[in-house]
This record gives sequence, structure tokens and C-alpha cells, in this order.
Amino acid sequence: MSTSTDLSGSTALVTGATSGIGRAVAQRLAERGARVVLHGRDEARGEAVVKEIARQGGAARFVAADLSDAEDTLRLASEAGAVDILVNNAGVYELMPTVRTDAAAFDRHIAVNTRAPFLLVGALAPAMARRGHGAIITIGSSAARNTAPIGAAYAASKAGVETLTRYWATEFGGSGVRVNAVSPGPVRTEGISAVFGDGPDALAPLDRVNARGRVGEPEEIADVVAFLAGPESAYVNGAILYADGGEVSTLPG
Ligand SMILES: NC(=O)c1ccc[n+]([C@@H]2O[C@H](COP(=O)([O-])OP(=O)(O)OC[C@H]3O[C@@H](n4cnc5c(N)ncnc54)[C@H](OP(=O)(O)O)[C@@H]3O)[C@@H](O)[C@H]2O)c1
Repeated sequence: MSTSTDLSGSTALVTGATSGIGRAVAQRLAERGARVVLHGRDEARGEAVVKEIARQGGAARFVAADLSDAEDTLRLASEAGAVDILVNNAGVYELMPTVRTDAAAFDRHIAVNTRAPFLLVGALAPAMARRGHGAIITIGSSAARNTAPIGAAYAASKAGVETLTRYWATEFGGSGVRVNAVSPGPVRTEGISAVFGDGPDALAPLDRVNARGRVGEPEEIADVVAFLAGPESAYVNGAILYADGGEVSTLPG
């Protein structure tokens, strides 16, 4: 475990921390000394991450909420209490062609990926602004700037939240609240394996979409989030930080 404690004394809410990138972010912020409120829907997986963080000497608790539901999202904000760091990570990506994306699937992407961050920022940023400090980091996606024959609804939901990030940076930046996004390319997580398969070569086509020649690891995204949450990024506000290995081509369809 890192000995850095640059986030000690702060509280972080990390959505979607039961899996993949969110779990790595929660672990990294806890290592840096933050008390972490972990969120997801799966109680058992949430409590397992809480235990793992405690085992490593960190402090965490779990709150379950379904972010496709606006009222449940606002309940999460209220149960999280005062937070200094908000990481909007929870997301869905069904990556279907448009003709196989019905209204419910489109709405699900917008509700979880775009509306939930909007509601959480609306509920939590004003108190950060009153205290004069805060960091909000949203996980966007390279899908927002690139193109592919699948996943248009997902891409639109991520383009929306990246645009919201720039607006929030302007809305809250003057009050000491910094708002930034990390925009990854393909990252090895349970979620991406559910789409592309979890065999040894399942993600090989994704290795070729970037100049590094490999998919990212959740910990590599967590390091960027930790940078944006901490004092090293004090003058970074409204940035969409690409963490994609240098994407050079589109996802396979
Ligand atoms: N992996 C990639 O290649 C990649 C690339 C670019 C961007 N991203 C973005 O990074 C974020 C994390 O992706 P990941 O690959 O780590 O995903 P993942 O492994 O599928 O994990 C998704 C997380 O979001 C939570 N979640 C999903 N739907 C939810 C809902 N309706 N209400 C509450 N929580 C919900 C899940 O919680 P439960 O399972 O407990 O319900 C889980 O903790 C997403 O925003 C994704 O779009 C991922």
C-alpha cells in the first residue's frame, strides 16, 4: 500500500465501486487516506470491497442504490452525507447497433450514465461550494470522441456527461470546486468481459485500437482519478483527460 496520505481527512463517494474501474478507484482513494463511501447495487460485492479496504488499513462503507431511478439516486446523495470528492463512475454499456437499441435501452444509458451524475452533482456540489473546496471526477469514454458501428446510445450518453463536466467546471470552479473527467479507451473489467467475453484472447481485438497496443488496467485509470482528486491537480478544472493509450482506430463491430 502507498504511504501517501494526501487525501486524509476527506470523504469520497465513488459510484459503481463494486466492480472494475470504480473498485480500483475506491481502493486507490482509500490508500491515499480518504474515507470512502462505496456505491453499487450488489450488496455482497460492495461489502467485499469494504472488507478489502479495511484489511489494508483504509476506511469505507457501502450504500446501495439504483442509479437508473432518480429518487434512489438522490437518496444515495443524502446517505453519503458531506463529501469532498465525488467520482461519477457507475455506468452501463450495452454496445448494440442502433436498430437493436430500443427506447428502454436508450433511456437506461442516459439515466445511469448522464442523468445520475447530473443529479449527484446538483445534490452534492452546492455544499462543496459553500465549504470552498471539492473535486468532482466523472468517467467519460473515448466513445464520446471516436466512432464505431456499435454503441451509439452509449457514446451519446458519454458525450453528454463530458459536456456537462465542462459546464460544471464553469458553474462551480469559482467556488473552489474543480470538475474534470477521465476519458478511457477499453479497460480490462468485468463489464467489458461481459460484452466481449472473458476467454484469454477475448479482448485481443481491443488491444489494437490504441498506440500502446493493449487495453488499459483499472488501476491505471484509478491513478488518473487520484491525481484529479488530489492537490497535485489544483489548477486543473474542466479538463477531459484522455487515458486511452493513444487511440488510433475504432472498436470492432
Ligand atoms: N471498461 C471499459 O473499457 C471502459 C472504457 C471507457 C469508459 N468506461 C466507463 O467506466 C465506468 C466503469 O466501467 P467498468 O468497465 O468498470 O464497469 P463494470 O465492471 O461493468 O462495473 C459497473 C459498475 O457500475 C455499477 N452500475 C451499473 N448499473 C448501475 C445502476 N443502474 N445503478 C447503480 N450502479 C450501477 C455496477 O454496480 P453493481 O454491479 O453493483 O450493480 C458496477 O459497480 C463506466 O462509466 C464505463 O462506461 C469503461
